Amino acid sequence: MNILVGAAELAPFAKAGGLADVVAALARQWAAMGHRVLVVLPKYRMIDAPEWGFQPIEPAVAVPMGQTVEYARLWLGTLPQSAARVCLLDAPHYFDREGIYGNPEGYPDNDRRYIFLSRALLELAQVLGFSPDILHVHDYHTAVAAELLRRFYRRTPQFYKTASVLTVHNVAFQGITDPARVLPLLGIPWEEFYPGSLWEYYGAVNLLKVGILAADKLSTVSPSYAWEIRHTALGEGLQGVLSVRGADLVGILNGVDYEEWSPERDRYLPVPYSAEFLAGKELNKQRLLTEWAGLPEAEAQAPVPLLGMVTRLTDQKGIDLLLHALEPLVQHLGVRFALLGSGAGHYESFFRYLASRYSRQVFVYIGYNEPLAHRIIAAADFLLMPSRYEPCGLTQMYALRYGTIPIVRAVGGLRDTVRDYDPISGTGWGFCFADYTPEALFGTVQYALSFYGAEPHWERLRRNAMACDFSIRRSAEQYLQLFEWALEKVRAERA
Ligand code: ADP
Ligand code: GLC
Repeated sequence: MNILVGAAELAPFAKAGGLADVVAALARQWAAMGHRVLVVLPKYRMIDAPEWGFQPIEPAVAVPMGQTVEYARLWLGTLPQSAARVCLLDAPHYFDREGIYGNPEGYPDNDRRYIFLSRALLELAQVLGFSPDILHVHDYHTAVAAELLRRFYRRTPQFYKTASVLTVHNVAFQGITDPARVLPLLGIPWEEFYPGSLWEYYGAVNLLKVGILAADKLSTVSPSYAWEIRHTALGEGLQGVLSVRGADLVGILNGVDYEEWSPERDRYLPVPYSAEFLAGKELNKQRLLTEWAGLPEAEAQAPVPLLGMVTRLTDQKGIDLLLHALEPLVQHLGVRFALLGSGAGHYESFFRYLASRYSRQVFVYIGYNEPLAHRIIAAADFLLMPSRYEPCGLTQMYALRYGTIPIVRAVGGLRDTVRDYDPISGTGWGFCFADYTPEALFGTVQYALSFYGAEPHWERLRRNAMACDFSIRRSAEQYLQLFEWALEKVRAERA
């Protein structure tokens, strides 16, 4: 199959969260299965294109934006260790800026930046002579391309057979914007903007809604989240629209690229380890505590449980529960806590404060740090994910492979990937709580700690965790099946 992918993030070039990992892992997997994959990504300032082996190509791509045409230079390369091709869209006035979306509120012209990406996606396939079977778009950033395909491009030879699939990674981000700004840009007449129409959403334009209604098939990143966004407030106002498309919406659980995330061959770990050599995990913990946290050797060797978190610091991740529960955990239960994250200022200050107050128990790095993410996930005994909502979540799946026991709120993809440990049967590999309260979090951590170092449970838990298989291969195959359905739909509509 020829698969054209448009996304705002792609690991390792530009990453803010799990979206980057999943888009890269799928592309790599499809390419390994023999499909032709082209991923299109903005050339953000952080991407050193020549360093990654990208070559500039001619001609530039011309992108219709309203009454005018704007141009972008194209750079072609591949994903590292893969045949999947990557095309960087070089439009400095949109993308030569700090970061990806612009923190913390996002750049005021993100609507325009991502409409440009969406439109360029379709135009550059023509320039490159790439005729896709599937146009796979992700989140609000490229959702509108599904409608542009239907409306403007399906009549061209390049796209007459192309089916579109939209994957929703997080329905809370919708690209809600001013119709007066974007309708003319997109070439949509005002007559089409009325209540109940594709383009209208409470007087605004909602780019995600447009994609949800226009794409041939839809997916989201776990079965539970697929249900939650249709039936609960987690749909963030799009429950109705998602239900209208319910028959075309599936939940495909994200997968892990175990080439990147395995303790046996993780290039960032001082000591590689496996289920057969769990002493290696202990050594990673000690090295982290001495080298990064600055504890003296003897103290680092004490059998004190270490809770880890690697996360964006946003409301989604349940950080407000920690505002209440973390200090008691540290004070009364004596745990150590390691956090790597960045995000909202008030959360960052809270963690900085705790780290200064409990300098031998709480260790915090505010910022983005790929090697440290691997080291914390490997070194921690437990990984905490008390999310308010979680479309899928990758870190808990990474943690499992590293024998790090997840303590999670049973929601979305966390519910689908973490099974409670049952000390009677010795099955399960984590600890879940349901209520979104600090008490529930505290109680569950306390319960989980009762198994720390307590054999035979502790080893059983870790072995069960490490035996979990959430490989990206299975997700990639499920997407291919969804792509087949999408193609059938397009064929049927044409006939
Ligand atoms: P989300 O996409 O909602 O942020 P996921 O669990 O799906 O959550 O993915 C998060 C990804 O981002 C993981 O690969 C995690 O390791 C990484 N990550 C999050 N924060 C940081 C950070 N501060 N430094 C390095 N990696 C991070
Ligand atoms: C989003 C979600 C996260 C998911 C990731 C990749 O960022 O918040 O739960 O794992 O996308 O699909």
